[in-house]
Amino acid sequence: MKNIEKKRVFIETLGCAMNHKDSANILSQLEEREGYSKTETIEDADLIIINTCSVREKPVHKLFSELGQFNRIKKAGAKIGVAGCTASHLGREIIKKAPYVDFVLGARNVSKITDVIHRKGAVEIDINYDDSLYSFGDGGVADFKKMINISIGCDKKCTFCIVPHTRGTEISIPSEMILDEVKRGVDEGAKEFLLLGQNVNNYGRRFSTEHKKMDFTQLLREVTEINGVERVRFTSPHPLHMDNEFIEEFASNPKIAKSIHMPLQSGSTEILKAMKRGYSKEWFLDRVERVRSAVPDVAISTDIIVGFPGESEDNFQDTMEVLEIARFEQMFSFKYSPRPMTEASNFKDSIPDEVAGERLKRLQARHLKILEEIAQSKVGKIYDVFFDIEDNGCLIGRNSAGLLIKSRGDRSLLGKVGRVKIIESGRTSAKGEVIS
Ligand code: 5AD
Ligand code: SF4
Repeated sequence: MKNIEKKRVFIETLGCAMNHKDSANILSQLEEREGYSKTETIEDADLIIINTCSVREKPVHKLFSELGQFNRIKKAGAKIGVAGCTASHLGREIIKKAPYVDFVLGARNVSKITDVIHRKGAVEIDINYDDSLYSFGDGGVADFKKMINISIGCDKKCTFCIVPHTRGTEISIPSEMILDEVKRGVDEGAKEFLLLGQNVNNYGRRFSTEHKKMDFTQLLREVTEINGVERVRFTSPHPLHMDNEFIEEFASNPKIAKSIHMPLQSGSTEILKAMKRGYSKEWFLDRVERVRSAVPDVAISTDIIVGFPGESEDNFQDTMEVLEIARFEQMFSFKYSPRPMTEASNFKDSIPDEVAGERLKRLQARHLKILEEIAQSKVGKIYDVFFDIEDNGCLIGRNSAGLLIKSRGDRSLLGKVGRVKIIESGRTSAKGEVIS
């Protein structure tokens, strides 16, 4: 029998969940329409794609050193493409700096992948391009999970953030398309769904076509009503859109996972104003209080930036105070990094790197202690765990709040929910025993 050689694609994905979903879409397009299959080995690839992030400066520097390295080791004739937010932001400059790059595909232009791979030197970075009505086909189900885009772009104007300049204005995907994709996921064996958008809970702000009025809370309700959907997560929400109705639905709907991302950015009302986040320290704390009292076992994660221009020690102390009260179960913290095209990149009063670094250390050290305290409080608790992976006789899964729990147990529990008592808990995962 003749052995038909398949073309192979290697994709490296940096950055957020949205980028991971874009990579899955790129891959499904290349598989379904161009006959590619995925490889994890660069040397085997006929096509190499780096899906980039530009939220902070470091990964942008890394891109060019990595491109050089990939170009040296790739097999003869293999193509190299740069996709994602840095592609949107640097565009043709990437090819000027690295002439061996075959194409540049912006974060807002993913559906053009099957076109750009055939055009040497193609640069498709239009941030007004609208692929909200494009059906990417089968994005795949892995470990009973499926990611689903519900909107593209971001309409906020946070002064530190490059994303609105790389992903463009916000457009919601019609709910019928989303619900169809969820149903398709259920048919393919998915039980848990991750709804994705840069500003996910602002769903319904704008559609490209005629669409009935619908907000994020209504969409959540409709998704969870579909037969076969067991758990729904979403990222990334904005605290500003967490109204009381949403919090009530979040608390009372058993299919919505009880973990929520509440990106604080800063605890100082003054800095929040300069960041144009649209809320104050008190308002944020009020939302946290409401979420915690409605859902006692909730896990709240956050993003924090230190060293934003003009941040005084007092402003930073406000952030420390919010950390103390909110007791986030997970925290992603960063030193402010000035980004091109953003308003804050023109702000005076930049904070010396050593000062920002020292604040970051203090913040992270205090958070580690909080995590240890939280871990201790978990021992003896009983959770419903959805087991999605088996490793060496050990079942691994997460509870509704997203805590990673390992437990000895019968393989028949794979893809199901088991009741587990926690016997040992660390900062990021716990060990338990199945009790039913
Ligand atoms: N500098 C540092 N961190 C940033 N983020 C976004 N832009 C910047 C920047 N210019 C962080 C925010 C955001 C997360 C994805 O990245 O905390 O929530
Ligand atoms: Fe950036 Fe703010 Fe939009 Fe998040 S909400 S992507 S931080 S502009």
